[in-house]
Amino acid sequence: MVVEWSLVSVVSLCLLAIIGFHCCCLHADQPPKGSEGFINIDCGLAQDTTITSHGLVYKSDKDMIKSGMSKQILAYDGNNNWDLQYWTLRSFPNGTRNCYHLEVDSAPRSQNNNSNTKYLIRGYFVYGNYDGLNFAPTFDLYLGPNLWARRRMNTTYIEAITLLYPSQDYFDVCFVNINSGVPYISSLELRPFNISLHGIPYPTHSQHLQILGRYNVGGTQMIKYPEDVNDRQWDTIDCSTFGYNTSLLSIDEAETDNNDDSNPYKLPQSMLRTACESTNLSIPLALQWTPSDQGSLRYYFYFCFHFAEIEKKLKAGQFREMSIVFNDVHTITNSIKLQLPYLKPLSFCSKESYEVLLNQPIKLSVSATSSSTLPPILNGIEIFYIRDASNPLTFFEDVKAMRKIKEEYKVSKNWEGDPCQPVEFSWEGLNCSNDHTWPRIISLNLSSSNLTGHIVSSISNLTAINTLDLSKNELEGEVPEFLALLPKLQLLNLSGNKLNGVLPDNLLNKYKNGSLVLSVEGNEELCWSQPCNHKKKKLPISIPILCSVIVAPILVLAILLGLKITYTRKSKEKSLESSHEGESLKMKNRHYSYLEVLSITDNFGVVIGEGGFGKVYLGTLKDKTQVAVKVLSPSSQQGYKQFRAEIQLLIVVHHCNLVTLLGYCDEGNHKALIYEYMPNGNLQQHLLDTNTNTLSWMQRLQIAVDAAHGLEYLHNGCKPPIIHRDLKPANILLDNTMHAKIADFGLSRTDDQSHFSTHFAGTPGYFDPRNQNVNKQSDVYSFGIILLELITGKPAIKRGSSSMFEGNFHILNWVESMIKNTGDIEKIVDSKLGGEFNQNSAWKIVELGMSCTQPTALKRPDMRHVFGELKECLAVHQNTTTTTETRIISTRVLSHSEIAPSPR
Ligand SMILES: *[C@@H]1O[C@H](CO)[C@@H](O)[C@H](O)[C@H]1NC(C)=O
Ligand SMILES: *[C@@H]1O[C@H](CO)[C@@H](O)[C@H](O)[C@H]1NC(C)=O
Ligand SMILES: *[C@@H]1O[C@H](CO)[C@@H](O)[C@H](O)[C@H]1NC(C)=O
Ligand SMILES: *[C@@H]1O[C@H](CO)[C@@H](O)[C@H](O)[C@H]1NC(C)=O
Ligand SMILES: *[C@@H]1O[C@H](CO)[C@@H](O)[C@H](O)[C@H]1NC(C)=O
Ligand SMILES: *[C@@H]1O[C@H](CO)[C@@H](O)[C@H](O)[C@H]1NC(C)=O
Repeated sequence: MVVEWSLVSVVSLCLLAIIGFHCCCLHADQPPKGSEGFINIDCGLAQDTTITSHGLVYKSDKDMIKSGMSKQILAYDGNNNWDLQYWTLRSFPNGTRNCYHLEVDSAPRSQNNNSNTKYLIRGYFVYGNYDGLNFAPTFDLYLGPNLWARRRMNTTYIEAITLLYPSQDYFDVCFVNINSGVPYISSLELRPFNISLHGIPYPTHSQHLQILGRYNVGGTQMIKYPEDVNDRQWDTIDCSTFGYNTSLLSIDEAETDNNDDSNPYKLPQSMLRTACESTNLSIPLALQWTPSDQGSLRYYFYFCFHFAEIEKKLKAGQFREMSIVFNDVHTITNSIKLQLPYLKPLSFCSKESYEVLLNQPIKLSVSATSSSTLPPILNGIEIFYIRDASNPLTFFEDVKAMRKIKEEYKVSKNWEGDPCQPVEFSWEGLNCSNDHTWPRIISLNLSSSNLTGHIVSSISNLTAINTLDLSKNELEGEVPEFLALLPKLQLLNLSGNKLNGVLPDNLLNKYKNGSLVLSVEGNEELCWSQPCNHKKKKLPISIPILCSVIVAPILVLAILLGLKITYTRKSKEKSLESSHEGESLKMKNRHYSYLEVLSITDNFGVVIGEGGFGKVYLGTLKDKTQVAVKVLSPSSQQGYKQFRAEIQLLIVVHHCNLVTLLGYCDEGNHKALIYEYMPNGNLQQHLLDTNTNTLSWMQRLQIAVDAAHGLEYLHNGCKPPIIHRDLKPANILLDNTMHAKIADFGLSRTDDQSHFSTHFAGTPGYFDPRNQNVNKQSDVYSFGIILLELITGKPAIKRGSSSMFEGNFHILNWVESMIKNTGDIEKIVDSKLGGEFNQNSAWKIVELGMSCTQPTALKRPDMRHVFGELKECLAVHQNTTTTTETRIISTRVLSHSEIAPSPR
């Protein structure tokens, strides 16, 4: 008799279909008992999960794989009663090799304290004419880097038992198109496998045990979980398969002995309850098959036969004793007599493998020994092939790094499965070493691959790499130092990108001593060394100015040390580099990774502000310094031109009236600015009517002086000037002594955005509506408005508020009309001060505010003048007590009333 094995499995799957779909809607939060550790994947499923009739939850593969398409079966022989997990499938019309990368729990490994975990892995292929072609395809299935099996027309599932390396926490299951139809898969199952195979040696790392067949002999039902606690699948096989002179033997509910000692193999009861028996003592039960082409010419197979005496009417003196014969000549059970006690399961597994050739028939028979009084029986069979799996896995750290690189750059190459193996499918752009234990990635060529963003740190984990070609992409940001730490790197090609900053010293040294071939041409803003003299677009800032000398301790120290400081950028940098304090300051001013930002802000735990650019979070650096972390929302990020280059410059701007930028994060979409923390919030909060803690006159003067000082520094202390662009009370922050510092300055925003978005063009009320130019004078206008707010306690604008005027309220209109109509400073100054102010200074500030907001931009004063005047007010206030003298102000300053801005 020739067994058509694949036919048998079809039959059994049809049976499965019939019994399988009695859908009881189990909602299992917990996996059913004994199924912990099972991994069930319903391929192509649109919703998240399917629950099968046995309560096993099958997860959709939609988050596990990016390639392939989700499809649905139409019908199968007019019968679409398939269990739910077979209704959908994933097909792979594109690419030669497509793979699942299945991460497995390391828990089963730690449990049995064995670093090598065995897994039973099974793929189902229910065609169901999903593509309407009525022709099920043939394709190859790979387990990691090794051929697993060829899926043929009638194969509905393929199963193997395989061994994980200690370092391996994943399986790659790959589908390879061999031009015989589109590969597909319906579902995937993984089970930790922890039962002895009765002497069958477990597969080594270079082999896996493939299941050719596992049968419930004489049974009418396919058996799986939960009857089989290990979820082995037992297909049905008819007694006629073993010869004509056979009959079915079965008992009903009687249980065979099921304690662990008598059933170590945990054979399912329902499998043992049926058997085939020969009708004639002298005729053996024979099983024959011919190995079909599974991609190999030579096979090594193992088998297990499972027996249990289920004949109830055994008479005294009757017993069954059997032997097993291979190809009619070789008695495998030579010294062993298989005697069956009633209802005690017995398994016999071959201790050695049997070699057979392709197309050479195999015959296994079970015959009665000469002393047996009863003919042979058989309850269950398993047949395994040993499949060569000697293609090694790529070194696991390299695999991890490559998968991360693929993800981070969204590499659009056919990068699937193991990067190096098998060689014919190794990833495009990679070269691997020929190591037979763990191939290593020795070169990575991503030239012209449309890479954007930064040079990702995952590259630093490719520690065996000697050639790295990232040329002709759109990479930006700085060249990271870790590239110089790659021990084997001999060639680094970064040419034709948009990298900027200065090459790290350690990389430069390698280049200089000849151990590294380095190509960086075509990066317009990248410098070989300091000073970085690229004229273009950057703001070459002349930094040190009076205030920063007073503030920055390093410079004080530098002076004490007698270092000569000239007001040029170059010498500033030199002095920074030549003092230790300078270095530590430089260390503080730095790039933070997104992970660091998460840790600094304790996962964005405390929001301290929210602006047009995104939220501001409270953070704490490692040295316990409190910081404010401004996270730019993706939509506002696009507004920032050359984010990183500008940050690099701003980070060295220090002034006691400017909020210090301590660092930044620039990882793809994650952009954040890390500022010194200002515990007293911003001026706007203090000016609100709802704020009961009224700012005193003295505090207002101080704030005006501080803000003027900061702005004066931006305008005149930096060359070319830094224009703030969005000066408003919300951007004037207050430290613990109520001194003011200006925030959010110096980032240039793209011009096209400025026409559309008020975030970039400035804020209504503070931005001169008649004058769209962004320059020093527009900042002065904004400052004038702020001065008026400080004095009057009124908001810059109030939309639709008609309490004072028809329509909108604008502070300029209001102040002007108050001067004209009353000329009474008491009515203009914030009534919350209760008259506690200096009238002289108040008039002076009103005058300054009005002159700052003159319609003709060129007539507005320079911030140096404004700062000087305000300082005087403060000095006067500090030296005198309140005076009642009223100052007559010149009408010249106030004469622009007729063209005062119309509120927008
Ligand atoms: C597949 O099964 C069908 C019937 O289900 C049969 O006609 C066909 O010969 C089988 N093909 C192979 C290659 O076994
Ligand atoms: C695996 O099997 C061994 C021997 O049967 C047993 O001692 C161990 O507890 C099992 N481990 C698990 C995780 O089932
Ligand atoms: C099996 O039984 C049939 C009759 O059913 C008989 O013709 C045949 O010879 C027997 N086969 C063997 C191998 O004994
Ligand atoms: C059993 O088979 C042998 C030979 O195959 C035959 O001689 C004998 O008659 C058979 N016995 C019965 C009871 O059929
Ligand atoms: C990388 O690949 C490109 C072609 O895609 C080739 O021109 C270049 O020479 C390769 N780089 C190296 C270092 O081999
Ligand atoms: C680097 O890449 C560029 C562009 O692909 C190429 O012209 C140049 O020769 C390469 N340099 C080296 C050293 O391979």
